[in-house]
Amino acid sequence: MKIKNISAFVFLSLMIGISSCKHEPVIVPVQPVQPENNGTGNNGNGNGNGNGNGNGGTGYVNTCDSDTVYFQSTILPLFVSNCAMTGCHDATSHVSGLVLNSYANIMSTGHIQPFNVNSGNIYQSMTTSDPGDRMPPPPSPAMTSSQLNLISTWINQGAQDNSCFCGCDTVTVTYSGTIVPMMQNYCNGCHNSTTQGGLINLTNYAGVQAVALNGRLLGSVNHDAGYSAMPKSMAKLADCQISQIRIWIQNGSPNN
Ligand code: HEC
Repeated sequence: MKIKNISAFVFLSLMIGISSCKHEPVIVPVQPVQPENNGTGNNGNGNGNGNGNGNGGTGYVNTCDSDTVYFQSTILPLFVSNCAMTGCHDATSHVSGLVLNSYANIMSTGHIQPFNVNSGNIYQSMTTSDPGDRMPPPPSPAMTSSQLNLISTWINQGAQDNSCFCGCDTVTVTYSGTIVPMMQNYCNGCHNSTTQGGLINLTNYAGVQAVALNGRLLGSVNHDAGYSAMPKSMAKLADCQISQIRIWIQNGSPNN
């Protein structure tokens, strides 16, 4: 009985994940390089509304280029959680006149030069070895090399306002492969060993497991009444990402 319920739940979550992809606005990523000739024709075009079962989903997955780093889904969360916190570069504090909470605000600083990672102050400040100049400043941890890699790739690909949320895998959901990267991208800037929003550290399994078990993880990302909406000051996670969290919790929030 229990097992049956769980599979029904997983199935339902999958369906929600898939259909939410279909109903999300179609955001066509701006590709630096145009794909060559379509060959047999119109398969990228009509499927966007997702009236078939396989096609809608596949079409969406294909709009995400695995070599492209997307601003809205990957880069903005890094800025919001590592730079645009209260007291730093949020709209109220705007330290040094910099507000780093949206594409328009980040680009209007003039400190990001599309296609040229070496000539903008923002990236330089994240990579400098001088702790006095480094952003985010100590005691906040420096950006990790994989985060820096994402930011530099995004800049060198033209620092575009592109987006691609769909194609998230709700079948194989693991702590290390699904939850950790999501925490790193959207949450750890405010929930680490030195900055602990709500006294919560989400950089290790024990911390994430605690909020998974007490319901606060799902309640906050789902924007349920009675919980602080997370990620704070950012758009709600995509439905398929919330489904991934729900599935992981439903599976017993394993450390896998
Ligand atoms: C910009 C900073 C920031 C980001 C990014 C952020 N949080 Fe939070 N979080 C906070 C603060 C501050 C609190 C304390 C409550 C409050 O002020 O809303 C908090 C509280 C929480 C709580 C407790 C909520 C409650 O109602 O008890 C959970 C769970 C949580 N965050 C999870 C997350 C997750 C998961 C993410 C990423 C998807 C995330 N947070 C991203 C700052 C942040």
